[in-house]
Amino acid sequence: MDALTLLLTRRSMSHLTTPAPEGQSLDNILAAGMRAPDHGALRPWHFVVIQNEGLYKFGQLLEKAAINANLGKGVEEKAKKAPLRAPLIIAVIAKIVVDAKIPAWEQVVTAGCCVHAMQMAAVAQGFDGIWRTGSWTTDPVVRSGLACQEHDKIVGFLYLGTPKFNLPIKGTAQDIKDFVTYY
Ligand SMILES: Cc1cc2nc3c(=O)[nH]c(=O)nc-3n(C[C@H](O)[C@H](O)[C@H](O)COP(=O)(O)O)c2cc1C
Repeated sequence: MDALTLLLTRRSMSHLTTPAPEGQSLDNILAAGMRAPDHGALRPWHFVVIQNEGLYKFGQLLEKAAINANLGKGVEEKAKKAPLRAPLIIAVIAKIVVDAKIPAWEQVVTAGCCVHAMQMAAVAQGFDGIWRTGSWTTDPVVRSGLACQEHDKIVGFLYLGTPKFNLPIKGTAQDIKDFVTYY
């Protein structure tokens, strides 16, 4: 798939199964994240690759967070199983450099670009995925479990794997004129 087709037809896929990207495919995905636009060359990101036993470990962390926040048995169970929705998750953390000239919001945007680039690199190699966040991104137990520092922001959990079925490709946006002015 050429780059323009990829960008014009991109869509997410939440129904994911094995195989997960691994080896060179996974390295390509991580390398694509590392090429995100980055004002000041701060590299204000960190990627946590969650796979194999790590998915169960991460489920236990989410369960612990749900217990700590008194969210109830239902949420605890759901939290524990949430990471098993894909064979690979990449947690993307914006490592905010507080004393930099580059404002924090720009650093968060850069980390967001990492997520997008990695998702597209996965699709380009025949995989698929979905960017998720939810309340876990600000939860203290989850933040601590992922070794976040005070100013870090978890910008996403990128769920990746092989699509369980083919989704129709989204057409090119037809309503461009509603979102664009030409100055
Ligand atoms: C910052 C961010 C956080 C998101 N969090 C979630 C989420 O927690 N759960 C979810 O189902 N979709 C979430 N989404 C949306 C999906 O990634 C996806 O874009 C959406 O389902 C629309 O599908 P599409 O990408 O095929 O257009 C998030 C998107 C962004 C950019």
